[in-house]
Amino acid sequence: MPVPPQSHERYEQVFAEVEAPFAFVDLDAMWANADAMLERAAGKPLRVASKSVRCRALLEAILGRDERFQGLMTYALPETLWLAEQGFEDLLLAYPTADVGALEELALHSAANSEGAPIVMVDCVEHLEMIQSVLGKGAPPIRVCIDVDASWWWLGGRVKIGPKRSPIHSVEQAVALAREIEKRPQIELDALMAYEGQISGVGDLPPGQRLRGAAIRFMQKRSAAEIAERRGAIVAALGEFVELEIVNGGGTGSLETTAAEEAVTEVTAGSGFYAPTLFDHYSRFTPTPAAGYALPIVRKPAPGVATALGGGYLASGAGDAARLPSPWLPEGLTLDPQEGAGEVQTPLLGSAAADLQVGDRVYLRHAKAGELCERFDVLHLVEGDRVVDVVPTYRGEGKSFL
Ligand SMILES: Cc1ncc(COP(=O)(O)O)c(C=O)c1O
Repeated sequence: MPVPPQSHERYEQVFAEVEAPFAFVDLDAMWANADAMLERAAGKPLRVASKSVRCRALLEAILGRDERFQGLMTYALPETLWLAEQGFEDLLLAYPTADVGALEELALHSAANSEGAPIVMVDCVEHLEMIQSVLGKGAPPIRVCIDVDASWWWLGGRVKIGPKRSPIHSVEQAVALAREIEKRPQIELDALMAYEGQISGVGDLPPGQRLRGAAIRFMQKRSAAEIAERRGAIVAALGEFVELEIVNGGGTGSLETTAAEEAVTEVTAGSGFYAPTLFDHYSRFTPTPAAGYALPIVRKPAPGVATALGGGYLASGAGDAARLPSPWLPEGLTLDPQEGAGEVQTPLLGSAAADLQVGDRVYLRHAKAGELCERFDVLHLVEGDRVVDVVPTYRGEGKSFL
C-alpha cells in the first residue's frame, strides 16, 4: 500500500478537529516501515523494542500484524512485569536491574509459569547474586540472558567503538559467566544478546559530512564482520554445555547484517516503526516518518518569525544538535540557533515562517522514537485521511518507567 503524501495540507485536514499540541502516529507510514523491516530481517523473527514504541495499543497492533513479529524487548523490570500482567508474552528485559522488589515479583511470576516468565539480563556475578537473594529455597529458576559487549575494538583494543554496556567481550569471559550460572540451579541460562549499537544506531550518511560518512562505513563494515565471528564463536562455545533458546542481536539500523549471521536466532527493532529523525541518514534503508507532534503558532515577534507554544522535546544521548526536534511541516522552517526548541516556546525561522499566522499549526518530529510518548498522554492514529483511533501512551496509562 503506497503511503499517502505527507503534507501540511493533508495533516491539517486530518486533524481539523484536534486541539494542538498533540502527538500522532501515521499508521500508513508505520506499516510501510514495518513491512520494510521484515524484508530486511530476511525471515528471522523480529523482537519489538518496547522502549521505542511506549504505547501498549501499538505494541499489540504490531505483534498482531505479522507472525514474524515475535515477543518484546523491554527496558525496565517494573515495565516488564506490567506488560506480563497485561497478557504480553515472550518478554526479554534488555538492561540489567538492581530493583530487588521487582525481582521478588519476578520470582512469583517464575513460580507460576517457569517456562514463560520474562528473561532478565545479566553480565556479572553481582547480577546473579542479586537474583539469588530473592529466591526462597526450592523456588523454580529465574531465566536469564547474558549480555555480550558487541563494541568494535580497533588497533588492538586501543580504540573501542560502541555503547559501553557489558564487560563480557571474549569467548572466555562468556564461558566463565555461563559456568557461574551453571553452578546456581535456581538460575537458568536461556539466552544470549549482543547489541551492535555502533552499526544499528549510527547513520552512515551524515548530511554534509562526506569524510565522516566514509569513516562510519569503514567502521561498520569491519565491526559487522568482527561481531559475526565473535558472536558465532561464543554461541558455539556455550553450545557445548547449555541450550540457548534465543540468540538476539541488532536494531533498526543493522537488521540486514545481524539477520545474516547464522548464529543469530532473532533480531530486534523498535525505532524503525516511528522513524524519528536520527534514522533519516542511513544508506541501507529509508524509512517514512511515521510519528510527529503538532504545535500552535501563538505569536509573531517579527514578520519573518513564527513562534510556537512549547515543543522543546529534546532526545537523550550526547548533547549535540542532532538531539533537537526538527520542524517538519510546512516545509521550509528552521529552529532559531539562539533558542532552539524551548520549554514554553519555539520560534521558527525560514522561508515558510512569514506565511504562518497566529492560530496556524506546525508539525515537528522528535529525534528519537519512544521518548515522544513521555510528552503526551495519547497518540492520535491516522489512516488515510482520518483519525481512526486515539490510544494512550505509557504515560497516558500513568506509567513512566525511565
Ligand atoms: C539492547 C538493544 N537492542 C536493540 C536496540 C535497537 O532498538 P531500535 O531499533 O529502537 O534502535 C537497542 C536500542 O538502544 C538496544 O538497547
